[in-house]
Amino acid sequence: MNPTQQANEFFMTLSPHRLLAIKLIGLLDVEEGQTIVDVGCTVGTTSVILSGYVAPTGRVIGIERNKQRLDYGKDLYAEHKNVEFVNCSYTDDLCAITGLKGNVDIVIANSLLHWLPNDDIKVLFKQVFDLLKPNNKSRFGVQAGQHFTFIQRFDEICGSNLNSRVNNQDVSNIVEYAKEAGFAVNVCQTVDSMQLYSFPEFDTFVHWYTGLTQGAFNLENLSEEQVAQVQDIYDNIPKYCGEYYTLILEKP
Ligand SMILES: C[S@@+](CC[C@H](N)C(=O)[O-])C[C@H]1O[C@@H](n2cnc3c(N)ncnc32)[C@H](O)[C@@H]1O
Repeated sequence: MNPTQQANEFFMTLSPHRLLAIKLIGLLDVEEGQTIVDVGCTVGTTSVILSGYVAPTGRVIGIERNKQRLDYGKDLYAEHKNVEFVNCSYTDDLCAITGLKGNVDIVIANSLLHWLPNDDIKVLFKQVFDLLKPNNKSRFGVQAGQHFTFIQRFDEICGSNLNSRVNNQDVSNIVEYAKEAGFAVNVCQTVDSMQLYSFPEFDTFVHWYTGLTQGAFNLENLSEEQVAQVQDIYDNIPKYCGEYYTLILEKP
């Protein structure tokens, strides 16, 4: 399996992303008939789960910048007629592209914020605010906080440079950005990182990380000593899990 296939498969399976999505969906009060936008939808697995809740009259629009991933999802989930996938960035004019200004009930961005620089988070919040209905009921679900610091350890072991892309910051900063964009913070719950990163076996953990790095991390390229160091991360995952939160933002 090539790295792209491996990464795409990973986004379909029961990975930490899926557990996070399920928790987030549970807090969003999703109902039949609603219009939902899924930002950074990857191959669209969360979009498709949501489409079941809003069917038959509601619909889900998945937004993804990476065309390869989106095309994979389009093929994979072609039978889900109430899901539409749009290849663009959340920094593009989402209201113009979707034609949904002020008409969206729920926006979800599952496992996205920790990959974004602060300025992009601010842009995202503003764009989402404009998409949502001004009815005191529309919601934006995200996660934020100190996330999987073991990436830094992986970088040290393997000479990779993934940690520099992770925005591990205090959740209060994100809450501040949300308020600046006009949101009220309705629910803020901690995520049980231990449960999130509880992989049944070392191989599952390795498969997950290979997917996360889109194949850049490959156990086969490591020395015995490095493999032992990666095994040590696996054995001590709780040590690397910081405070991570699910936030539900409401448009007044
Ligand atoms: C960790 S994945 C999200 C997982 C997905 N939400 C799910 O529930 O399965 C982050 C995704 O956000 C996408 N992304 C990053 N920046 C983006 C942007 N500016 N616009 C749209 N998508 C973006 C990435 O390409 C990646 O596929």
